[in-house]
This record gives sequence, C-alpha cells and structure tokens, in this order.
Amino acid sequence: MAEVDADLLRADLAALYPQYGLRVAHAGTVLVGPTDEELLELAAIVAEPGGVVEPGRERELLGWPSDAGDAAARRFLEWAWRLRETPGAVRWRAPLAVIDGGRALGLAVLSHDHHDPAGTVGTSSWLARAEQGRGLGRRVRLMLLELAFGHLGAARAVTNAAEDNAASLRVSQRCGYRETHRAAGPDGVVEVHLAVTPAAWRRRRLADVEVDGVDAFRAAIAG
Ligand SMILES: CC(C)(COP(=O)(O)OP(=O)(O)OC[C@H]1O[C@@H](n2cnc3c(N)ncnc32)[C@H](O)[C@@H]1OP(=O)(O)O)[C@@H](O)C(=O)NCCC(=O)NCCS
Repeated sequence: MAEVDADLLRADLAALYPQYGLRVAHAGTVLVGPTDEELLELAAIVAEPGGVVEPGRERELLGWPSDAGDAAARRFLEWAWRLRETPGAVRWRAPLAVIDGGRALGLAVLSHDHHDPAGTVGTSSWLARAEQGRGLGRRVRLMLLELAFGHLGAARAVTNAAEDNAASLRVSQRCGYRETHRAAGPDGVVEVHLAVTPAAWRRRRLADVEVDGVDAFRAAIAG
C-alpha cells in the first residue's frame, strides 16, 4: 500500500479542520497539527518510564498520572484525540507537534476556552526528556507567541506550572511572563499562573519565525 505523505494528509484535514493548516517554523523546528503517526511517536515517548519527566517528579505535570507503558500511551492518545474539534470563537484548540530533524519530539497546545476573557490564549507544552534543557522549550514558546500575537491578534497569553517546575517557570520568565496568582492544583500541588502581553513578548521576539496557514484558522475563530 502506498505511504501517505504526512503533509498531504494534513492538507486534507485542513480542508475540514483549519488548525491542520497552521505551520510555524524556526531554525529547523516546525510546529504542525499532529497526524496519528506523529501522535504514536509521541505516545511512545509518554509510555517510556521517565520519557517526559524524571521518575518521581510527575506531580510537576499537574494531573498527569505517574503510569507508563500502554496505559500511559492510550491515555495520551485519547487526550490528544479529544483536542481535535471544530474551532470556534468561544473555544478552540490548536495542538501542534514539535518536529525537529524529522521526528516528533513533543507537543505544544495553543488554546482559547469559553471561560477565558476575549483575546486571551493559553499555552502548554512538553518535550521528550532527552531533548530538554537545550533551549528548545523557550524557542517553542516564542514560536507559539509569534502565532498568537503576531498572527491571531491575541492580547494576552497565559500559562501555568507547578511551583517546583523550575524549567517551565524559567521559560515563561525568559519569554516576558509575569506571575498573576497562585492556586492549589491537583494533588495539593501549588500552581503558579503567569501572563504575558504582546509588548513584553515583542522585546524577546525571535527573528525569522515563518508562520503559514493562518487565514482560514483566523476566519474560523472570528466566529
Ligand atoms: C518545560 C519544558 C517544555 C521546557 O523546555 P526546555 O527545552 O527544557 O527549556 P529550555 O532549555 O528552553 O530552558 C529551560 C530553562 O530552565 C532552566 N532550568 C532547567 N532546570 C532547572 C532547574 N532545576 N532549576 C533552575 N533552572 C532550571 C534552564 O537553565 C533554562 O534556563 P536558561 O535559559 O536561563 O538557561 C521542558 O523542560 C519539559 O517538557 N518539561 C516537562 C513537561 C513540563 O513540565 N511541561 C510544562 C508544564 S505542564
């Protein structure tokens, strides 16, 4: 049977779900809506013990159970499949696989929920542990903000992290976020909530981020 090219599949999906037409690229890293093949690559990372966080530190992932193997892979896939929905003005989700060197290394999600004020977007992301700590997390966040502020007209981006998740908090701080408040999260973990404005992001903006496929998505979320 002929192999289906991932970008052809994305183009077919984009005709129905415009989030699959989004593409953000910077210095060899590409963010695109994940195909099932890419989700399976990511599920294999999630299934690996310590694939995303050091064993014992799963609480930092705010609600991720500390399981591994097939149960963790299925939980990840079902969560990722539930993110696939028609985007609208009230609620939309743009899950984006982090592709580098032809491999899916992590997942980033840009979203807007019905309880968010107009113009506010949320971000979340994770990378395979083997890929952490070399600046990719910060670049991915700045790529998401380029899409949100530079192309979707967002006025504020928010995120949250467990108070002991030093890498995530540092990435947020280095992208211009400020803490807004703290709240008790799952399992009693203290969650730090942070926000960034376009002005604060602009001072840290990456040069040469390419963003494509925005028009159809922007039309869909305009309502
Ligand atoms: C959070 C995450 C996406 C960041 O990506 P990354 O590629 O590791 O981040 P970067 O390398 O760009 O930057 C990490 C920063 O945190 C710092 N850092 C990392 N661990 C640290 C620690 N234990 N104490 C203090 N600083 C730390 C690094 O020095 C770096 O700061 P610098 O740029 O000033 O040197 C990634 O670590 C990850 O996927 N973690 C697991 C999932 C997760 O926690 N997701 C977010 C919350 S749900």
